Amino acid sequence: MYRTHTCGELRISNAGNEVTLAGWVQTIRKFGSITFVDLRDRYGLTQLLFDEQLNDRLSASPLGREFVLQVKGKVLERTNKNAKIPTGDVEISVSDYTVLNGANTPPFTIEEDTDGGDELRMKYRYLDLRRPVLKRNMELRYRVNRSVRNYLDTAGFWDIETPFLIRSTPEGARDFVVPSRMNEGQFYALPQSPQTFKQLLMVSGYDRYYQIVKCFRDEDLRADRQPEFTQIDCEMCFVEQEDILNTFEGLFKHVFKDVKGIEITEAFPRMTFDDAMWLYGNDKPDIRFEMKLQNLKVNFQNMENSPVDASGFKVFEDAETIVAIAVPGAAEYTRKQLDELTEWVKRPQIGMSGVVYVKCNTDGTFKSSIDKFFNEEQLGKIAGFCGAGSGDLILMLAGAETRTRKAMSELRLEMGNRLGFRDPAVYKPLWVIDFPLFEYDEDGKRWVARHHPFTSPKPEQIPLMDDLSRYAEIKANAYDMVLNGTEIGGGSIRIYQRDLQEKMFAALGMSKEEAQEKFGFLMGAFEYGAPPHGGLALGFDRLCALLGGQESIRDFIAFPKNNAGRDVMLDAPSGIDEAQKKELGLQ
Ligand code: AMO
Repeated sequence: MYRTHTCGELRISNAGNEVTLAGWVQTIRKFGSITFVDLRDRYGLTQLLFDEQLNDRLSASPLGREFVLQVKGKVLERTNKNAKIPTGDVEISVSDYTVLNGANTPPFTIEEDTDGGDELRMKYRYLDLRRPVLKRNMELRYRVNRSVRNYLDTAGFWDIETPFLIRSTPEGARDFVVPSRMNEGQFYALPQSPQTFKQLLMVSGYDRYYQIVKCFRDEDLRADRQPEFTQIDCEMCFVEQEDILNTFEGLFKHVFKDVKGIEITEAFPRMTFDDAMWLYGNDKPDIRFEMKLQNLKVNFQNMENSPVDASGFKVFEDAETIVAIAVPGAAEYTRKQLDELTEWVKRPQIGMSGVVYVKCNTDGTFKSSIDKFFNEEQLGKIAGFCGAGSGDLILMLAGAETRTRKAMSELRLEMGNRLGFRDPAVYKPLWVIDFPLFEYDEDGKRWVARHHPFTSPKPEQIPLMDDLSRYAEIKANAYDMVLNGTEIGGGSIRIYQRDLQEKMFAALGMSKEEAQEKFGFLMGAFEYGAPPHGGLALGFDRLCALLGGQESIRDFIAFPKNNAGRDVMLDAPSGIDEAQKKELGLQ
């Protein structure tokens, strides 16, 4: 028997017991003739005491960090207890030990905080995973997984696997492809999601499907994106949007209670896509704080003597839009802090030429970067429109509509960060609904599906699909679950009739032949009794990261890729040898 207890198990009530433990050496401290060792495993740490009788053995072959050790000994009450760890009342007086395996000196410290840089930690991921932080993340991920499965099982969902070697499913990213040996010159695509399969399972009458499943997308990576990531993928038939929102709001609340011990009683707020864009400049608003966008150009447009139009300030006059936020309590910002903000908005990612400020001083006066053009009365009007009170700082951006609103949305989040309004321990989920069916792709100069081409338009708007000039107006039965400024899930009510699906493909510029070639299987299935259906997929990694209070998903995945999409531990992707290439028919 390797062990009688784990390293996290022993308490004062075990004092006097003879025990055997096995684990990894975390620290070695020598005090004269005695040596203390902290032994670690997944469950915790236990202090070991090696007294002078073992000295000869220890000096003949010293222990090292990360050695795998088995010890036998007696549990003693400690004289100086450590209240910080659950086993802190006891230590093991070691009578005998076996080194089960030695270890090289680890390339970074394996403790809560480490001196290892990102790449080094990724290269030795198996060592990084020993650190308590990562271990807690993996445990959280496991708990979320269990909790999701329990909820969905109770709700009658079946977990059904779908294939990975498939044809392209369009989710808006590039496909990863796999060459076929048996069909030379042909390729499988890895699924960007199981979208079409889950719809086919509805046609099969399986009603409530789910899968915690890997998806593969070749897209530019960010903190919340990995090339292979996990979805909680779900589909239901004979449901309306309302049923789906209720089911998955229920799922979120269940997981939240299980994992965080917090009961959310109120319903998630719902915000239309249009409102989200107008008030936050963003389709995944962080509603932990206000600071909504104020649309000055529009507000002043119909006003006589509009302070903006009458000012002679060219930047404002020429701008397609002027957007402002009132930052609470920031009127005290110094010149230096304001200069810093100007530099911040000028960064290429933000792309603005500057930011205009108005300080609403507590004595009722205003101080602004545009004092030359605006008198106190005009500034007062602007403050009024922005809902700015005494002590607030108004920040304004002016320029082209889309870019300016996007920049302001970023600036709002940045100010939220700077002022501590984005506390990761505060959770504010919401639904964003009524997404547009299409969006215009400026690069490709064509209309594309905003969600995916299987999403149903609002039925009353189907006739607008015949008029290209009205595409922008068409809304879909599509929704996103948003948490603290991150999209954690998205879904829609689907098209389930062949003619509407054909119309959709045609609207996306696909010829009848191309649609038939790529999606004939699905449209064919729609001719054999397809039920009305809909669903959603939650980003499992994102959900875990947010529940763990972080934005980056990387440390919630056991073996993630780096920002360049590489697995630095395996050194993948890599070349393949000539014989393999030949077998696959590749040049
Ligand atoms: P969608 O593309 O919105 O919908 O994806 C669903 C959720 O998956 C997460 N996600 C990601 N997480 C990590 N890395 C990525 N690269 C990544 N891409 C997406 C997000 C997102 O909200 N088939 C549809 C769902 C449906 O219609 O039912 C789909 O895949 O949290």
